[in-house]
Amino acid sequence: MLSTGFELSAPLRRPLPTEDYGHRVQRIYPEPTADLDPTGVYFDDDRPAPPGRPWVVTNMVASVDGATAVDGQSGNLGGPADRQIFKALRGCADMILVGAGTVRAEKYRPPRSPAEPIAVRRAARGQATRPRLVVISASLNLNPEASLFVDRDPEDPPPIVATVTTAPASRWANLDSVADVVACGETQVDLNGLLAVLDDLGAHTVLCEGGPDLNHQLFASGLVDELCLSVSPQIIGGVETNARSLLTGPVLSAATRLRLDRVLTEDGFLFCRYLVS
Ligand SMILES: NC(=O)c1ccc[n+]([C@@H]2O[C@H](COP(=O)([O-])OP(=O)(O)OC[C@H]3O[C@@H](n4cnc5c(N)ncnc54)[C@H](OP(=O)(O)O)[C@@H]3O)[C@@H](O)[C@H]2O)c1
Repeated sequence: MLSTGFELSAPLRRPLPTEDYGHRVQRIYPEPTADLDPTGVYFDDDRPAPPGRPWVVTNMVASVDGATAVDGQSGNLGGPADRQIFKALRGCADMILVGAGTVRAEKYRPPRSPAEPIAVRRAARGQATRPRLVVISASLNLNPEASLFVDRDPEDPPPIVATVTTAPASRWANLDSVADVVACGETQVDLNGLLAVLDDLGAHTVLCEGGPDLNHQLFASGLVDELCLSVSPQIIGGVETNARSLLTGPVLSAATRLRLDRVLTEDGFLFCRYLVS
């Protein structure tokens, strides 16, 4: 075979910048500003909860051509500022909602404590030190010895696992000691019902971290208030990488109209905040 000396997968594996980057984040919309601290900016955003349910923010990273995973994970799409914004959004949230597919693919861990200034501001708002994880799964195919269940801070309540009444009883029993397992539907979790439960538990802001299957249901049900989309400056192509778009599922019965609220940039990335109008 003719060798070109060029590895197709190399661009996906480029080393991520490691230098201090925080002061290089700039706002380019609405008013251009340099040297911005995204952590404070995201924390200060207004998030008025609609009646009966929390405000729902969806946060995703995608390549310019719309891929949300490379080799089954999102990590190769991110960068330092993307991770900073990921943490900033976690710093705002009372609860983090995630599909079981993402938990299995990304090896979820318990949320870490936010940096000191955010910790102080969370306490002042009456928020818990760390957001609580809420995993959605009909199959309950979740390892009860996984880090997200066993490594949590003893101060924190266990993660919530939202499931269905028809979930396998043996898996339910295995998870019962490490999670609060709640049924919100017979064969599919009813997302309106689940959000009402989270509202009753005091959640004001719920951060959804995907994946595309869960995103599709949330958008289809009109339950997303804010989309934070990090656009990674890469073209991935879909066939060999199992790349998927932001939403996986049938065409929505009506397109969701988004209003661009803000765009930040760093190292070729765009960090777009959209509000559902
Ligand atoms: N680029 C990014 O920002 C980003 C973010 C997140 C994820 N990802 C990528 O996306 C991929 C995973 O996404 P995905 O779309 O396959 O999965 P997903 O949306 O994370 O999870 C789907 C699973 O969640 C459960 N589920 C979802 N809705 C449910 C409902 N209404 N009732 C009951 N269970 C429900 C089911 O779990 P059971 O099968 O257990 O029943 C379902 O199989 C991974 O490759 C990950 O790396 C990328």
